[in-house]
Amino acid sequence: MGFTYNSFGGDPVAGEKRYGESCINCHGPAGKGAASYPKISGKEISYVTAMLETYRDGIEVGPNSSLMIMMAMPLTDEEIANLAAYLKDAKYQPNINK
Ligand code: HEC
Repeated sequence: MGFTYNSFGGDPVAGEKRYGESCINCHGPAGKGAASYPKISGKEISYVTAMLETYRDGIEVGPNSSLMIMMAMPLTDEEIANLAAYLKDAKYQPNINK
């Protein structure tokens, strides 16, 4: 079976996996946000990409940016594209069977 690649952007499946490794603990399942951690799903790819690149550059944009700078530093361009692709359509579904 072929693996379809999205020529204009990231791979949401790889993004979901990466998200589960290092983002879910703060931003919650499917990027729904938790306590003081912002909701990051349902946003434009360009927005999430720009934010992650900003943090990766070590630029503070909010009161808790230092947490994100630490998380964004190791991300590659490809990982950022994948994460942005995943988060755009990620939806938290507590009752997935309903
Ligand atoms: C240690 C907790 C923590 C982890 C882990 C974490 N984040 Fe964050 N994230 C935050 C906080 C806190 C903010 C708000 C930072 C600020 O004040 O600028 C934020 C902000 C963001 C924003 C900007 C939101 C907005 O509306 O501007 C994005 C996008 C984001 N995080 C994505 C991610 C991704 C993708 C990962 C995994 C690679 C991740 N975060 C891991 C805590 C975390």
